[in-house]
Amino acid sequence: MKKNILIVPGDGIGQEVTQVGKKVLDKIAQKFGHTFSYDQALIGHVAIEATGNPLPDESLAKMKASDAVLFGAVGHPKYDNDPSAKVRPEQGLLKMRKELGLYANLRPIKLFDELLGASSIKPEILKGADILFFRELTGDIYFGDKGRDNNGDTAFDVAKYSRYEVERIARKAFDAARTRRKKICSVDKANVLETSRLWREVIQVVAKDYPDVEVEHQFVDATAMLLIKDPRRFDVVVTANLFGDILTDEASQIAGSMGMLASASIGDGTGVYEPIHGSAHDITGKGLANPLASILSAALLLDISFKMKAESEAVINAVDKVLKSGYRTKDIADPLTESGKVLGTEAMGEEVLKNLD
Ligand code: IPM
Ligand code: MG
Repeated sequence: MKKNILIVPGDGIGQEVTQVGKKVLDKIAQKFGHTFSYDQALIGHVAIEATGNPLPDESLAKMKASDAVLFGAVGHPKYDNDPSAKVRPEQGLLKMRKELGLYANLRPIKLFDELLGASSIKPEILKGADILFFRELTGDIYFGDKGRDNNGDTAFDVAKYSRYEVERIARKAFDAARTRRKKICSVDKANVLETSRLWREVIQVVAKDYPDVEVEHQFVDATAMLLIKDPRRFDVVVTANLFGDILTDEASQIAGSMGMLASASIGDGTGVYEPIHGSAHDITGKGLANPLASILSAALLLDISFKMKAESEAVINAVDKVLKSGYRTKDIADPLTESGKVLGTEAMGEEVLKNLD
């Protein structure tokens, strides 16, 4: 198959890990006889520096024209402590999500058995945990009106959802549950928020079309607790944008490290695949970043956008073998002993490539 892939490394360790993800895609193309061509585009702080715009029109046009996007991260510490900055790297990411209609963000939380010891949660609680999050990605408080009143002394961010927005992500989540353990947990704050009451109402309606799927509704505060207490009780979790952002960072600890978690953002057009971790400027340029989330994002890209199941599984198996051989990046080394063969970003990538041969 011939495919065009756009590489969008963005900021910080995004630059380092995305190059490794690309190498893995290249190796898969060689091995399975595909022709992948690549182009590159700017987003985030690097785009602001080069053009003044966190998502230049040229980048957006390239995204729309590609068959899939492998994305890194956006962010820069210089904006984090400057609340007055009007132009920010994250605006590029949010605009990309909105413009590409990426309303469903799939975040699979699966623990490789070899990493049972890397999490700060007890192994007997974790073993066998396998959760698929569907985070709504183009609505909620992220995209509602925001601003200041009262001479700047009052601020507001409006959370807003429309029925169709909840329905389309609900259907994606229910469809996925059918291919798994047939359980859905819908997470909201319907005891307080009107958007959550609409959310719950729509989930209940959609559920009627899926009588074979068991549905549970939870309040987000309870979910935050239950994820750590008993992660195995969850199969598919569907939730709004802000709750999904927070819960998936928490749930990353079930997979040992943020450095292991890949995600797929899909909608009506081009899909975007990215690690859930951020730009991590504290370790940028040191060659320490874990490239496995980017590699596993490449696996999701192959599976979801290109329907290349065998190719995707080959990548996941290669990661599994590398972990079984005892190789670790610093973030997934045993927290107490830091034992295992600890590798940097590139060397970890090379091990995965070797296993693909
Ligand atoms: C994520 C990130 C983004 C978000 C930030 C960088 C805007 O945390 O993709 O989870 O909040 O969605
Ligand atoms: Mg986040």
